[in-house]
Amino acid sequence: MQPRDQWTSNLGFVLAAAGSAVGLGNLWKFPYITYANDGGAFVLVYLLCILLVGMPIMMAEIMVGRKTQKSPVGAMKEAVGDAWGLVGGFGVLSGFLLLGFYTNVAGWTILYVVECLDWSTGGFDSAQAGGDAFVGMIQNGGLQVGLSALFMGATVWVVSNGVSGGIERAARILLPVLFGILLVLFFNSLRMDGAGEAWGFIFRPNFSELGRDGVLEALGHSFFTLSLGMGAMVTYGSYMARRDSVVKAAGWVVILDTVIAMLATIIMFSVIFSQPGLRESVGRSTAGMLFITLPELFYTIVPMGKVLAPLFYTLVGFAALTSTVSLLEVVVSYFIDERGVSRKKASLICGGSTFGLSILTGLSFGAVGGLSSFEIFHEEAGLFATLDHFVANWALPLGGFFLTVGVGWFMPKAVTRAELEDSGTPGFVYPVWLFFIRFVSPVAVGAIILAVILGEADFN
Ligand code: PFF
Repeated sequence: MQPRDQWTSNLGFVLAAAGSAVGLGNLWKFPYITYANDGGAFVLVYLLCILLVGMPIMMAEIMVGRKTQKSPVGAMKEAVGDAWGLVGGFGVLSGFLLLGFYTNVAGWTILYVVECLDWSTGGFDSAQAGGDAFVGMIQNGGLQVGLSALFMGATVWVVSNGVSGGIERAARILLPVLFGILLVLFFNSLRMDGAGEAWGFIFRPNFSELGRDGVLEALGHSFFTLSLGMGAMVTYGSYMARRDSVVKAAGWVVILDTVIAMLATIIMFSVIFSQPGLRESVGRSTAGMLFITLPELFYTIVPMGKVLAPLFYTLVGFAALTSTVSLLEVVVSYFIDERGVSRKKASLICGGSTFGLSILTGLSFGAVGGLSSFEIFHEEAGLFATLDHFVANWALPLGGFFLTVGVGWFMPKAVTRAELEDSGTPGFVYPVWLFFIRFVSPVAVGAIILAVILGEADFN
C-alpha cells in the first residue's frame, strides 16, 4: 500500500481548510442573511457562535482526523466506537447532497466572469443584467447543466491530483489571489458614498431587531461557513502530520473565514448603500444580491467598476472551487480508504455521480416543472431549495451534534488531552475546550435541532 498523502506543512493544511471554509457561504449566504436579519445584533451573535460553538467543534473534527489518519467513517469508528461510523457515513452522504446543489451556484460564477469581461470591454448592457436576466439564466436548463459540468470538471481535476499535489497546490494559489482581490475591493469600498452607512449597519447592534429565529440562523450558518458537521475537517485533519498543532490550525481557519466574511459583507453593503433607494428594493431579493443587485452597480456607481467586477466574480468562483474540492474529497476519501478504489477512479466516479445530481438540481429552477415545484418542506419548492433546506437545517446540525457528543463524552479524556496539548498550547485550553464540547456545543446545537423539529427555524 502507498503511504498516505499529507499536507506539506501546517500552512498547507491551514490554506486548504480555510479554502474549504471560505466559499459561497461567506460571499453569497452571509451577506444576505445579515441583510435579512437587520445587521448589527445578528453579526454579533454570529461572531459569538463562531467562537463558542464553531471553534470547539472545529478542534474536535481536526483532532479526530489527525489522530486516526482516516476519513470520517473509519475515523469515527476508531476514535469513538464502531457504531459511530454511522455518523461518518451520514457526513459522506451530506457531502454528496451539498456538493450536488452547491455546484449550481458555483457554476453561475463562471458565466458572470465571462459576462463581466464582455461588459468591461464592450460596454455595459443593462438588459443583460438585473432580475429578469437572472431568472432567464437560471431557467435555461442547457446553460445550467453546461456550467455545472465545467465547475465539476475543475473540481474533479483538482481532487484527482491528490492531497498535496492537487488540493493543497490549488489552495496555495487560489487563496492568496482571493485575499488580494478582496483587499483591493475593500480599500476601494472605503471611498464609496455608502461606506459609512454600511459600517453602521454591520457593526451597530440593535437587539430589538433580532428575534429567536435570527439567533438560530446565526448558529446554523456558523456550521455551514466553517464546513462543520459533515466530516470535511475530519478528512482534511486526517492528512495532517502529528507534529502540527490542532489548536493553532483551527484558530487560523476560524480567523481567516471570519475576516473574509466580514470584508465581503462590508464591500457588498458599501456598494449597495451607495445607491439611494436601493436598500429597500434589495430586501425583496436578498438571495439574489450577489447576482442581481451587484453587477449593475459595479458598472454604474463603483469607481473602477470595470476592473473590479470581473475580479470580484473571479474571487467568488475561486472561493467556491476550494469548497467544492473539499466536499468531493469527503466522498472520494471514503471510497479510497474504505473501499480500496484508486484516487483517479474514485474522483471520476464520485464527481460523475454528483454531477448527475446537480443536473437535477440545475433543472429545478424552472427548466423542468416537476423538479421545480414539488415541496417536502414548507415553502421550499423544487429540488434545489429542498436539498439546501435539508442540509442546512438537518444534516449539518445533526452531524455536528453527534460529533460533539461522541468526542466529548465517549472518547477517553486521556486521549483527547494528549491530542490537544502540545508544547505551544497554554494549559487552560484543554479544560476550556472540554467544557465547551461537553456542555455548550451539544446544548446549542440541540437547540437548533429542536427548533427545526418544532418548525421554528429555517436557515435559508
Ligand atoms: N464552508 C463552505 C462555504 O461557506 O461556502 C460550504 C461548505 C464546504 C460546507 C464544505 C461544508 C463543507 F464540508
